Amino acid sequence: MVNTTTVAGLVGVVLLVRHGDSTTYYQDPNTYNSTQSYITPLGEQQEYELGSFLRSTYLNPDSPSFIQNISTEVVNVDQLAVRADAGGGNGILNSAYALLQGLYPATRQSEITLANGTNVLPPLGGYQYVPGKSVTATLQSLEYWQSPSLTSWMECEYFQDHLIRLYASTSFINMSTTAAPFLTALKPYLGGVSNNFTNMIYDHVNFQYTYNKTYYETLPPTFLEQARYYADFVQRNVFTDSTPSSIGQVAIRTLFPEIFWALGNMTLASNKVKMNIQEVDYKPFISLFNVTNATLTNPNIGGIPNDASVVALELSKNSQGQYEIGMKFKNGTEDSQFTQLEIFGNTSIALNSFTQTLIDTTIPINSTNNWCFSCNQTIERGCSVFNYSNDPFLNGVGTGYTG
Ligand SMILES: *[C@@H]1O[C@H](CO)[C@@H](O)[C@H](O)[C@H]1NC(C)=O
Ligand SMILES: *[C@@H]1O[C@H](CO)[C@@H](O)[C@H](O)[C@H]1NC(C)=O
Ligand SMILES: *[C@@H]1O[C@H](CO)[C@@H](O)[C@H](O)[C@H]1NC(C)=O
Ligand SMILES: *[C@@H]1O[C@H](CO)[C@@H](O)[C@H](O)[C@H]1NC(C)=O
Ligand SMILES: *[C@@H]1O[C@H](CO)[C@@H](O)[C@H](O)[C@H]1NC(C)=O
Ligand SMILES: *[C@@H]1O[C@H](CO)[C@@H](O)[C@H](O)[C@H]1NC(C)=O
Ligand SMILES: *[C@@H]1O[C@H](CO)[C@@H](O)[C@H](O)[C@H]1NC(C)=O
Ligand SMILES: *[C@@H]1O[C@H](CO)[C@@H](O)[C@H](O)[C@H]1NC(C)=O
Ligand SMILES: *[C@@H]1O[C@H](CO)[C@@H](O)[C@H](O)[C@H]1NC(C)=O
Ligand SMILES: *[C@@H]1O[C@H](CO)[C@@H](O)[C@H](O)[C@H]1NC(C)=O
Ligand SMILES: *[C@@H]1O[C@H](CO)[C@@H](O)[C@H](O)[C@H]1NC(C)=O
Ligand SMILES: *[C@@H]1O[C@H](CO)[C@@H](O)[C@H](O)[C@H]1NC(C)=O
Repeated sequence: MVNTTTVAGLVGVVLLVRHGDSTTYYQDPNTYNSTQSYITPLGEQQEYELGSFLRSTYLNPDSPSFIQNISTEVVNVDQLAVRADAGGGNGILNSAYALLQGLYPATRQSEITLANGTNVLPPLGGYQYVPGKSVTATLQSLEYWQSPSLTSWMECEYFQDHLIRLYASTSFINMSTTAAPFLTALKPYLGGVSNNFTNMIYDHVNFQYTYNKTYYETLPPTFLEQARYYADFVQRNVFTDSTPSSIGQVAIRTLFPEIFWALGNMTLASNKVKMNIQEVDYKPFISLFNVTNATLTNPNIGGIPNDASVVALELSKNSQGQYEIGMKFKNGTEDSQFTQLEIFGNTSIALNSFTQTLIDTTIPINSTNNWCFSCNQTIERGCSVFNYSNDPFLNGVGTGYTG
């Protein structure tokens, strides 16, 4: 690595944010299709606090991570791009709204003066509405069927094959044997939910422990932590895979194109967007930390990120004028600060090397058509419009898309 110093202030940042605390939901362990959930007041508060944290990190001129020329009080809608997965009871979309309230809180400075001299303050003491439906400053909500990019594991046949392989693997069976006595002891605390090791038992336990007083008072000590430990193991294996380009990494492979385009745009003279926020589920975090090798130097980030977690990909310019990327993580409200992570063993890496290495190693999925082929899905989620009649892989020859 060239030894350079970074010029003060960031050029921009791409943020992957996990939604806040939500009502309990069910994920089918054989498909990872899930039922609806809704954000709770606790979840709204977590996202709001995260927004305030991001405000003090990126919008405060005294912060070393201040983003150059970003509007600090009154939102400049051209500087923000926000994308949220709108499926599942809007829990994720509403998380983005709560975060934005912390990032750009209500302010009297958002008052305007009309031609006739009357001053008008937006409602709620100057609430700042981030408008929808324009390319740069949109809170674009992506319905499940519109774009597979934020829920790319669902209805993906090859992902289901990956689950079958995983559940039959020695290390998985071995861990399920280790977990068996605990799962038996946990059975009375699961209501009707199956205690099969493949099932995501932690959500149910955590939800009851958070909201049910009797449960909170009767759940034996360490049961919550043990459930989390095993859930972390299961999810780490479900959302990683033997190689960076394998289907178990699909959650991040479909997000990378947006991330690379956003970072690339930030280097252009014409660019206005300084903060790109992707409000998502926990899955892409796990795949991201695996494919960037961040887990090699920080093995403790291999589990499920807590609610309202954030990964920041910070774009800066060094004294030689080169663009660099650094990656930071905050594991929900339990962490008060970011932890600096390493990307392929470096705390910062040239933007072009970051992008090219991840393109070469993960083979990102950058279109619906590409997703359909990568998943062997020819019908659902918009795949039926493509012509597969000449496709060698569907007709039994090629295998390049499996893995
Ligand atoms: C910030 O604004 C100054 C003055 O307009 C300009 O020279 C500089 O290039 C801008 N920096 C960024 C990162 O936009
Ligand atoms: C998966 O979930 C989505 C949205 O919740 C639903 O529309 C779809 O029918 C489900 N698919 C299957 C195979 O259950
Ligand atoms: C100015 O215009 C606003 C909006 O049309 C109206 O509500 C207000 O009464 C007007 N004030 C005067 C002094 O005309
Ligand atoms: C199985 O688990 C034991 C500990 O419970 C461990 O020592 C052993 O390495 C594991 N084997 C495999 C194949 O993961
Ligand atoms: C647990 O789930 C796996 C995968 O769905 C299945 O193969 C296995 O039979 C289940 N075990 C029990 C005891 O239900
Ligand atoms: C609360 O927890 C208790 C003890 O586990 C359980 O019996 C009860 O059904 C739970 N209540 C609800 C509303 O889930
Ligand atoms: C990048 O910029 C182009 C051209 O302005 C725009 O169409 C595109 O949506 C931007 N993409 C991202 C991810 O910011
Ligand atoms: C990525 O995940 C695979 C499969 O779980 C694992 O074998 C590998 O060690 C992980 N790599 C890193 C850097 O954590
Ligand atoms: C976040 O913290 C929890 C404990 O609260 C831990 O189980 C989990 O592995 C951590 N996740 C990451 C990605 O660091
Ligand atoms: C990531 O780490 C693995 C060892 O676990 C290594 O083989 C691979 O080359 C590393 N990837 C990059 C791009 O440095
Ligand atoms: C999209 O991905 C395909 C297949 O990996 C690649 O050939 C193509 O260049 C990519 N397109 C863009 C715009 O990145
Ligand atoms: C892909 O799906 C088709 C049916 O749509 C099936 O015939 C084929 O065997 C599948 N390919 C693989 C490699 O699973």
